[in-house]
Amino acid sequence: MSRLYPLFATAGLCAVTLATPPWAEDAPPPVDQFALNALVLSGQSEDAFLQAFEAGDELTEFSFDANRGVGANVGEGHRFARVPRADLAGYGEWAQHFPTREGGPNATSCIACHAAPAPNGAGDVAMNVVVDPGHTGDPALFLERNTPALFALGIPQRLAEEMTLELATQRLSTEAEACAKGIATTALNAKGVAFGSLTLHRRAENPCKLQPDSSQLSGIDADLIVKPFGWKGSHASLRGFTRDAAHNELGMQAVELVGDQDGDFDGVTDELTVGDLTALTIYMAALERPVSTIELANLGLQEMSEAQRRRITRGEVLFALTDCSSCHIPQMTLNDPTFSEPSRVTGYVDATLPSGADPAALGLTGDSAIHVDLTQDQPNNQIKLANGATHHLGAVERRNGQAIARWFTDFKRHDMGAALADPADPTGLGAATFMTRSLAGVGSTGPWLHDGRATTLDEAIRLHGGAAADSRSQYLNLSQQAQQAIVAFLEAQVIYTSGEEDH
Ligand code: HEC
Ligand code: HEC
Repeated sequence: MSRLYPLFATAGLCAVTLATPPWAEDAPPPVDQFALNALVLSGQSEDAFLQAFEAGDELTEFSFDANRGVGANVGEGHRFARVPRADLAGYGEWAQHFPTREGGPNATSCIACHAAPAPNGAGDVAMNVVVDPGHTGDPALFLERNTPALFALGIPQRLAEEMTLELATQRLSTEAEACAKGIATTALNAKGVAFGSLTLHRRAENPCKLQPDSSQLSGIDADLIVKPFGWKGSHASLRGFTRDAAHNELGMQAVELVGDQDGDFDGVTDELTVGDLTALTIYMAALERPVSTIELANLGLQEMSEAQRRRITRGEVLFALTDCSSCHIPQMTLNDPTFSEPSRVTGYVDATLPSGADPAALGLTGDSAIHVDLTQDQPNNQIKLANGATHHLGAVERRNGQAIARWFTDFKRHDMGAALADPADPTGLGAATFMTRSLAGVGSTGPWLHDGRATTLDEAIRLHGGAAADSRSQYLNLSQQAQQAIVAFLEAQVIYTSGEEDH
């Protein structure tokens, strides 16, 4: 038997036929990528965007149940696991799942962890994820990760895409030079961030063959793709991260991850559709950006004394003077603020899906991509002002025609010193290596640092070491009042949701 399922109850136009669902009636129906594509291709791009956004909202909030495939066959009768269970290696158990598990499954919804101070936010240490990517089964080698916030994630992906394009151009000219001269070295630089240097040696002529020497690169992988997601900066695309999160945290395995297989042996296949992943990606990309309390005060949304305002402004100056801003770069310009899913940039779009499928065969094609203009399309946080006008607080600022993203990172990995190191280095990126964490919204996302060990912002700063040791010393040498001003500046970076959804 089959039954008509609209993409949404209200969107009868793009009804798609799916088998009768075994899951709860209030569950979000699976999103059909081809129905979204049909909207885009018939000129209704905005509808496609809004429907994907709305569906992503439901998918992040919804508590999935076993019929829909949440959880996994952990072993010993368990469906969920707070700690990795590489010891359970019997047929179909934790250690046998494919793709290989890192941790979990440990929740039934995304916002079970991404919760503070509002849905899609960060998590307390109780929501820390414990992972064992190497399947050691040894608790002494488990890694802990604190839950970061999910707002406006189109910003970091777009910035990273543009940086990667810049680096690709620099690599191309180095290639041309090395082919002509036999060897060439170029200092790599994107949006003002130095990524060390790349040397290419010519190994053959006609056709020219080159061998790279990547040993002098800094803070980036040899593929020169800037990876903005994860505490280690290990994932390039929002879609890629999300598909792994759904598998590891929820035990919800996307079709594009496992095809028609039941990789977590819970008796359910097709747990998330290609359209579901598109919806989740579009949703997080187009969520409103974190703001500053000064913006809120200027809009009359919050009280602020002159003294408070002066302290925050002084803190901002001191933040730069103590070189915090050398890593936490306060702002970057987006040449093209349009986020696209699928992405238009190599490295951020799947050439082949992890399942082995051709993305185009499943509806992921450039001509039917959903676009989000990060300077105006965010449905949330459109604030009605006293004079009747609307201020779009959710959008990336436009100043003198330029899109200014205040993300407070250089998207580079740094050695943060032995004291902050993970107990193991299963991915080979360096136990003490972490990507400069964005400070957008940092006043609302405590506890801080990759495992949530810092219970105050002052502690988070004092725990900086390694490449940040110098900056930390400068902070420690400031007067207590000056330190408090820096903390006040950080506290002023907040997550704000108006509660009104204007869609
Ligand atoms: C059990 C808690 C938990 C659940 C449930 C969870 N997450 Fe996360 N999420 C985390 C943690 C912890 C991290 C940091 C992981 C890391 O960096 O290694 C994270 C990171 C992310 C990131 C990267 C953010 C960034 O800026 O680096 C995205 C995107 C994300 N999660 C999306 C999701 C989505 C979508 C879901 C639901 C399908 C989900 N998460 C469910 C805990 C959770
Ligand atoms: C060498 C680069 C570098 C410098 C300089 C630096 N930081 Fe950081 N910062 C990082 C990295 C990397 C992390 C993430 C550490 C981790 O994952 O545990 C981080 C994390 C943070 C966090 C916690 C963010 C969160 O969401 O948990 C705060 C707050 C912070 N830095 C503030 C500062 C301040 C203030 C200064 C100047 C006194 C500073 N940083 C200087 C690289 C740097």
